[in-house]
Amino acid sequence: MPHIKVTPFETEKLDRLIAADAVFDFRAVQHDPNREKSPIELLGVDFEGERFVLEIHKRPGAYLIKPDKPTRPLDVNRIKRVLRYLAEAAALKVEQDNITLSPTKPPLAETYAKRIEDFESPDFGGRPIAIEVGFGSGRHLLYQAKRDPEILHIGIEIHTPSAQQVLKQIELQGLTNVWIVNYDARLLLEMLPSNVATAVYVHFPVPWDKKPHRRVISEPFVAEATRVLTPQGVLELRTDSDHYYAYALEVFSRGERVRFEVSKNHEAAIRSKYEDRWQRQEKDIYTLRLVAERESAEVSREYDFRFDRRLKPLDALLTLPQDAIIQPDHFVHFERRYRMVTEEGVVLKCSFGSFDRPEHKLITVRNNQAVYYPQEPVRSKTNDRAHHTIGVSLYV
Ligand SMILES: C[S@@+](CC[C@H](N)C(=O)[O-])C[C@H]1O[C@@H](n2cnc3c(N)ncnc32)[C@H](O)[C@@H]1O
Repeated sequence: MPHIKVTPFETEKLDRLIAADAVFDFRAVQHDPNREKSPIELLGVDFEGERFVLEIHKRPGAYLIKPDKPTRPLDVNRIKRVLRYLAEAAALKVEQDNITLSPTKPPLAETYAKRIEDFESPDFGGRPIAIEVGFGSGRHLLYQAKRDPEILHIGIEIHTPSAQQVLKQIELQGLTNVWIVNYDARLLLEMLPSNVATAVYVHFPVPWDKKPHRRVISEPFVAEATRVLTPQGVLELRTDSDHYYAYALEVFSRGERVRFEVSKNHEAAIRSKYEDRWQRQEKDIYTLRLVAERESAEVSREYDFRFDRRLKPLDALLTLPQDAIIQPDHFVHFERRYRMVTEEGVVLKCSFGSFDRPEHKLITVRNNQAVYYPQEPVRSKTNDRAHHTIGVSLYV
């Protein structure tokens, strides 16, 4: 990650910059009795139209300045440019850095890389869509995209290098009907409108025998997939795991407004690397196809992530309990507290939401207003519930 290591300096000198320069928003110092000697400091920036936060860590004989992970921009060069800008504007003595700009030409395929936020009000250009969960090397996804050019194929993969590899392939093969999302698939379905997908493919998901809560297939997933599918749309699971097959069969059989069919060692039109391997080992491969029988009602995603009640005094926010608040379906954890020094205010570093795919955000409190920084959480049911729990801690 881009960073600069600088000779220790009076961080107060940054406050003059913040007052004079629109790039810098606030400075805040960690409030933690255990870290009084070396509190982490935050520097809020608004650079090239994007808001994020830099952290200043005090190390023996040096200060390390780097972006805060949850708010950091995808564009690495932007981080490098802001670090260079800061070093120059504050006349910092840089001892070590890794901020040489990389060749800037963004790959053409980046047009097809979508963020999870892009699905808050998605525009599929009037095309039917098909979704592939955990596409790995992307063989099936790319094959389908070539075979059905009129369909928009949305691949969602949690593993970043796989997502980047397939983006390169999209560019090389000149495909224009594929979107790639580098995120947890379980959240994507929740955000989609009802009755939009002709298919949802889940091929060879990780069986997670020891951590079943991490499985992609679950009752809520099947319910969301059924809602997102058009009538007669298909959720197709392929697996080589006897356990996963038995588990999925049970989950599918609890689905509503669906029918399903099962087959063994069905020859697929295109085989993934995994399938090739299982076939060489002569393992059985199971295919479960669940068909949505009816249209589903539209769901409301009118979540409101504002804080609209009277807030506790700043000192009370700085001493919010350290322990995570655990509810049956979500949690909230105020991980760090910071006192703003450039104005009256507090910054809370907070993780919250569902246990297996939590959100990490900052919340700034100033002028009697609390807001998520740099932007609101993803509009999911779980985040909505977590937002209410956060409110209980922040309101008087
Ligand atoms: C065993 S591989 C199978 C890849 C591919 N479907 C195939 O048949 O070759 C499982 C893939 O699912 C991805 N994955 C696991 N959990 C996921 C999730 N929650 N959301 C999106 N992708 C996920 C993994 O990163 C991995 O690439």
